[in-house]
Amino acid sequence: QAELTELLKERIRDIPDYPKPGILFKDITPLLADQATFGMAVSALAARYQASGARAGDADQGAVTVDKVVGIEARGFILAAPVAYRLGAGFVPVRKKGKLPYHTHETTYDLEYGTATLEVHQDAFTPGDRVLIVDDVLATGGTVRATIDLVERAEAQVVGIAILLELAFLQGRDRFSGHDLHVLLTV
Ligand code: PRP
Ligand code: MG
Repeated sequence: QAELTELLKERIRDIPDYPKPGILFKDITPLLADQATFGMAVSALAARYQASGARAGDADQGAVTVDKVVGIEARGFILAAPVAYRLGAGFVPVRKKGKLPYHTHETTYDLEYGTATLEVHQDAFTPGDRVLIVDDVLATGGTVRATIDLVERAEAQVVGIAILLELAFLQGRDRFSGHDLHVLLTV
């Protein structure tokens, strides 16, 4: 586990002052481009939701079955789609406003400056669906919080949130305490 963490961390590149002065951007493209680390990341994100594995906090009942994996546009798609395939689950895109063609639920959340709106198709879930949310980075938690709200609006159930990299100093996880959060790397 410590070894996996080290291998993944070595493939994350720090970019100072991107996209703005004072921001240290965590660039995961080297991790994605390396066949070994990309595969390890996808496997590790899926692992606790696989039928053969035990799930922390629910160990005596075995793994949670996931019906649908939600990926958040854009970087979340890269990891969520292979996780869905790995789990034998369906894939649901949560997209930025205006990209989905059919009836949607939408939710607006705060960014550092201004707001953003995310949407999901109203018929993307069957009520009671067990949903895993996957994204690349957890920062302020606004994106995941909005996505939980969209899933719950559709009467589906969020059974887990799987994240590649958490920026812990921003305390984003406090915005959805009570949900099962699985993070591969923390800085
Ligand atoms: C980034 C990242 C997460 C989100 C985390 O996405 O991919 O989705 O920020 O930030 P938060 O926890 O403060 O909400 P971004 O909105 O930059 O868009 P992208 O995925 O399309 O690059
Ligand atoms: Mg994103």
